[in-house]
Formats: sequence, structure tokens, C-alpha cells
Amino acid sequence: MRVLLAPMEGVLDHLMRDLLTKIGGYDLCVTEFVRVVDQLISDRAFLRSCPELTSANAYGCTTQSGTPVRVQLLGQNPSCMADNAAKVIELGSHGIDINFGCPAKTVNRSRGGAVLLKDPDNLYQIVSAVKKAVPQDTIVSAKIRLGYEDKSLAIENAQAIEAAGANELTVHARTKLEGYKPPAHWQWIAKITQHLTIPVIANGDIFTLADAQQCQKVSHCQDIMIGRGALMLPNLARVIKQSSQDKIHAMPWHEVQSLLLNYTECETYGDKSKYYPNRIKQWLKYLKLQYAEAESLFQEVRTLKTAESIINKLQNSTVY
Ligand SMILES: Cc1cc2nc3c(=O)[nH]c(=O)nc-3n(C[C@H](O)[C@H](O)[C@H](O)COP(=O)(O)O)c2cc1C
Repeated sequence: MRVLLAPMEGVLDHLMRDLLTKIGGYDLCVTEFVRVVDQLISDRAFLRSCPELTSANAYGCTTQSGTPVRVQLLGQNPSCMADNAAKVIELGSHGIDINFGCPAKTVNRSRGGAVLLKDPDNLYQIVSAVKKAVPQDTIVSAKIRLGYEDKSLAIENAQAIEAAGANELTVHARTKLEGYKPPAHWQWIAKITQHLTIPVIANGDIFTLADAQQCQKVSHCQDIMIGRGALMLPNLARVIKQSSQDKIHAMPWHEVQSLLLNYTECETYGDKSKYYPNRIKQWLKYLKLQYAEAESLFQEVRTLKTAESIINKLQNSTVY
């Protein structure tokens, strides 16, 4: 089985990818989406979303611990998506992932993300343009939801993506209308897999080892992608991967505290005063779903505005 680390805009940046892949269990990371509108994205903008590109060798870019990183593109214009895909592959991305699941109003209004699921031909045109623009051995993957308002096109959409030449497909098992409302409909992923030959990766609501096992069983997928669960429990991928060997336990809170402090060492926040406070608060919101201690820490830092004040609070609350 493979465990993929999900793209999560606003939360899962390269620092988080480094922290989580160092703990282990991940086979691939997908970046936060890079929005493609009508022009070629600059090297600088690609590097901002994926600093790992600087580590690229013949096998593509990786996190510090060696996990491959794939850039995700979100856009509606096939030729512009193709040009940007070719460029980011040249920069060293480990394949291309195409976002057809983003539910954000602003993105959907400009005809990007989940709104494209309303017509399988949209997906076909974009994937085939991207596939043609990159070297033959480049992995092109797509990430979909089960539909926009309903699931009536779920299978057709997946088939269009495969017919266009995609190498793999991730399915977040909910429609755009369902947002993040539980449950994720894993049985729908099984329906999709029956009609495809390419590997399908199951995604949605995998928060524990039991969820992962149940999702694999119901979806008929070996491979899974985890997003919020990875932020709630930093060693979730290892817990899942090593379940058949020595039992790995949930990471204790004092180790999570060290991770929080490691995250403070990021070089990115120095000149961007809001970057670090926003991101650490986002992470704490997920951690508090798993750790009671994170709830009280979140309350303590909630109103703090500077990186320094938050780091001070973290250092004072850390038990060594
Ligand atoms: C804050 C947030 C940001 C997200 N950003 C992206 C994104 O940039 N690209 C994408 O394909 N999916 C994005 N997603 C969706 C996740 O990748 C994933 O499909 C979804 O959260 C369900 O998986 P989970 O239950 O494991 O979190 C985002 C989700 C959240 C909650």
C-alpha cells in the first residue's frame, strides 16, 4: 500500500511536509494547489509553493527525508495548464497533479476546481493537454470529488480522466455540495475502481488505523491519501503502515510539542509576520481534535499576533 500526504492549501506547506515525512510512512506528498489562470507561472512562484524543487535530481524533487513531492495545478484553460505543467516538470516536480476538487467559491466562479466536474469533457481536455505536454514517462494524476451537486457523473468523470491518459486518480469521496460533511462515501470509490484500470487512491475521513483499514476494504483501494488526519496525529502514516509489524502507538503530546517547536525554526516566517502565527494556529486547530493539551495551548495563543510571542508561549509550555 501507499500512503500519500494530501494537498492542503493554507496549512500543509513544505515545512509541514518535512516534519511529517521525517516521522515516516509517506510515499508521496502533493503540494498546495498552484492557481493557473492565463499565463506562465514564474519560477519564483513555483518555488514558493514547492521549495523542494531546488532538491530535484533525475528522479524529481523530495522532502529532506527523501519523500517525492508532486506539484498540484488548478486551472481551467487546457493549453495554459499544459504549458505550466511542462514548465514545472522541467523544474523537477515529481509528476503533476491536477485539482478538480476545490470547492472554494472564488475558484469555482472563475471555472476552476470542482465546478469542472459538471462536464467530463472539461476534465478530458485538461488532462490530455497536460499529458501531451510532458515527457512520456511523467506521472500525471488527477484529484476529484464524486461530483459537483450530485454523484451522477462520478464514473464518467473518472473514465474521462483515464481516457485522457492520466496515470492515477485520487478520489475524495464526497461531492462539492457535501463539502466536508461526514461520512465520506468510500463505497463510491469502489464503484469507480470497477470501471478503471489505473490505480485509484482513496481519500476522505481517514483519521485512525481502523479508518484506513475500513476505507481500504470498502473502497477496494490499496492506496490512501490522508489530509486532516495527518495534522491531527503526526505519526498517523506510520501507525497505518506498520500495523502488521510492531504496533506503533499514537505520538505522545511531549513529542508533538517538540514538533511544534521545530516548526518555529522555519525560515519562511521571518519577513512575513502573519505567516507563522496563521499556520501554527491552523495546525493547533487540528491537533486539538486529538490532544486535549492542544486545546489549552490553542486558547493561550489564539489572540497572539506575532511569531515571537507564540514561540515564547510554546517554549514556556514545553516539558523537557
Ligand atoms: C484546509 C484545507 C485545504 C485543502 N487544500 C487542498 C488543495 O490545495 N488541493 C486539493 O486537491 N485538496 C485540498 N484539500 C482537500 C484535501 O486534500 C482532502 O481531499 C480532504 O481534506 C479530505 O481528506 P481528509 O479527510 O484526509 O482531510 C484541502 C482541505 C482542507 C481541509
